[in-house]
Amino acid sequence: MLIRRAERFKAADITDEALYLRRREFIAGGIAALTLGACDFADGAAPAPPGTPLKAARNDQLSVKEPSTKFESATTYNNFYEFGVNKDDPAREAHRLRPRPWTLKVDGLVGKPKTYDIDELTRLFPLEERVYSLRCVEAWSMIIPWIGFPLGALLKQVEPTGQAKYVEFTTLLDPAQFPGQKPGLFGGTLDWPYVEGLRMDEALHPLTLLTVGMYGQVLPNQNGAPVRVIVPWKYGFKSAKSIVRIRLVGDQPKTAWEKAAPQEYGFYSNVNPNVSHPRWSQATERRIGEFRRRPTSMFNGYADQVASLYAGMDLKKYY
Ligand code: MTE
Repeated sequence: MLIRRAERFKAADITDEALYLRRREFIAGGIAALTLGACDFADGAAPAPPGTPLKAARNDQLSVKEPSTKFESATTYNNFYEFGVNKDDPAREAHRLRPRPWTLKVDGLVGKPKTYDIDELTRLFPLEERVYSLRCVEAWSMIIPWIGFPLGALLKQVEPTGQAKYVEFTTLLDPAQFPGQKPGLFGGTLDWPYVEGLRMDEALHPLTLLTVGMYGQVLPNQNGAPVRVIVPWKYGFKSAKSIVRIRLVGDQPKTAWEKAAPQEYGFYSNVNPNVSHPRWSQATERRIGEFRRRPTSMFNGYADQVASLYAGMDLKKYY
């Protein structure tokens, strides 16, 4: 997804990952211990609780049956540009993020705007574990057991008005915690803060999960602690991490990736093997941990549940 260094991103970067990950397996234990263990905070803020167990009943009906990607891979091979543009930057830099205390503001075109403390939010609705496929726009994928609750439950609680047509997600803006947001470093990659958006019916869809954990524990910082959204039928970049604000709006939000490269990253960004990215095909993907590429499924395998949202729409035009 690189913008400034786009010329350096080639298909070969993706296929090389297998080798890269095997090398990582030797050091993954060490990195995980480093990033998931107790972090030291010079300024005295409350320590982050990554690694804390989080209980949730598995929702089998909404879970894929494939084995989960190794935890080590899911926490050391990440996209989180606020920490840097390389896949191992988030794991290395994640200790800088302080996921507690944290608040999430839900406002905009709603009857009852509210700011939730993260611990209150985590207890608000029954937590479910759902094993979803995550398909990155860069043509790799993982299977991840997320823990969270349907975003729709939260949205209904704040009572959207009839004018609310879209939902906008904003990630924390704080260059002290996110070195990638510092001007002059990778600050030029995106117009910070990271903003994403969904149509109202997409946000209310039962598959759309507000996520606070994965693999039976609190969300690790590099995966978007303390709260992120997961929209499994869309490319991974639609699933914004470390969210501080959810705003209901009347107009389609301008997303960070759309602003950076509108011809490459459309607002919808539904997984679609028939619509190529301008720089690579989306017909196949490489599952992290596997060597052979596999075909990509329409809507990332969730067509039965979500195709009706797009009935009559030209998905080449609305990519
Ligand atoms: N959210 C923020 N705030 N910043 C990012 O750079 N990257 C996106 C998405 N959410 C990103 C983000 C992309 S491109 C992907 S593929 C997924 O996060 C990766 O999630 P993971 O690292 O938990 O696998």
